Amino acid sequence: MSATQPKEPERRPVTTTALRAMKDARQPIVMITAYDTPTARLVDEAGVDVILVGDSVGMVVLGLDSTLPVTMDDMLRHVSAVVRGTKRALVVADMPFLSFQITAEDALRNAGRFLAEAGASAVKVEGGRRVAPVVQRIVEAGIPVMGHVGLTPQSVHQFGGYKVQAKETPAALELLEDARALQDAGAFAVVLECIPAELASIVSEEIEIPTIGIGAGLGCDGQVQVLHDVLGLADFTPKHAKRYADVGAAIRDGVQAYARDVRGGDFPAEEHGTRMEPDAAAEVEKLRSRGLRAVAGGVQDEEA
Ligand code: KIV
Repeated sequence: MSATQPKEPERRPVTTTALRAMKDARQPIVMITAYDTPTARLVDEAGVDVILVGDSVGMVVLGLDSTLPVTMDDMLRHVSAVVRGTKRALVVADMPFLSFQITAEDALRNAGRFLAEAGASAVKVEGGRRVAPVVQRIVEAGIPVMGHVGLTPQSVHQFGGYKVQAKETPAALELLEDARALQDAGAFAVVLECIPAELASIVSEEIEIPTIGIGAGLGCDGQVQVLHDVLGLADFTPKHAKRYADVGAAIRDGVQAYARDVRGGDFPAEEHGTRMEPDAAAEVEKLRSRGLRAVAGGVQDEEA
């Protein structure tokens, strides 16, 4: 770079306090999921603020019907892969089903593993007032926690399906109390999933920590989407998602072209391989034609 060229603006790692400043400055926060090193690298280079390693990995990557079977071991593996691909975004690890619901001690130990073993910067837990004491315990240990209310997929059986939540007044007020309880417990942000837009706006105005919406309208302080939904890699696109690319079609086309080339003898071409030194090739050919084979650094007759 010449001395006259302007320097690239410094891209400092995103922190939880930076997210709070973004809310105060009314600067929308961009969050997306990722589950492995190459996609983490790509979304980080694209400039997202937060990468969530969601337990949605169970559904969009592991082919499961719900997030419930996802384990701590699954999540640790995916979180460390994402951390290895990330330079700037804040990496948040989703705490899987039963990793924080049984005892506060378990919750703290599991949350700590995501930071100490996998290199995440924060964890996310589903639930409102009922998990607030656990959130407080984790935060007191110095671990940033993101809350998650509304349609919390780990409670899908309690909800009777993946349905919009808090459409009626009592449930809306309950949700507002949940968000307040998470803030009071020390959460640094809260995901609002699949709730009416008006309610999400009210919650975003009522609490000081950033709200990150998914299926919750424009009134949130930021948005989160599942990577596979917005890139056309999932079986279907949920109502709350917009398809920004058709990576599925690009993969299918690319693999079809590869298969065509292999079947047609067009791959690999000369430039994709290597050749022996001419003398060595000729010598091997000569020995082969004399029926000789290699033994411990020398040659012997094939009959021997
Ligand atoms: O697991 C996940 O991807 C999530 C987001 C949908 C918020 O929890």
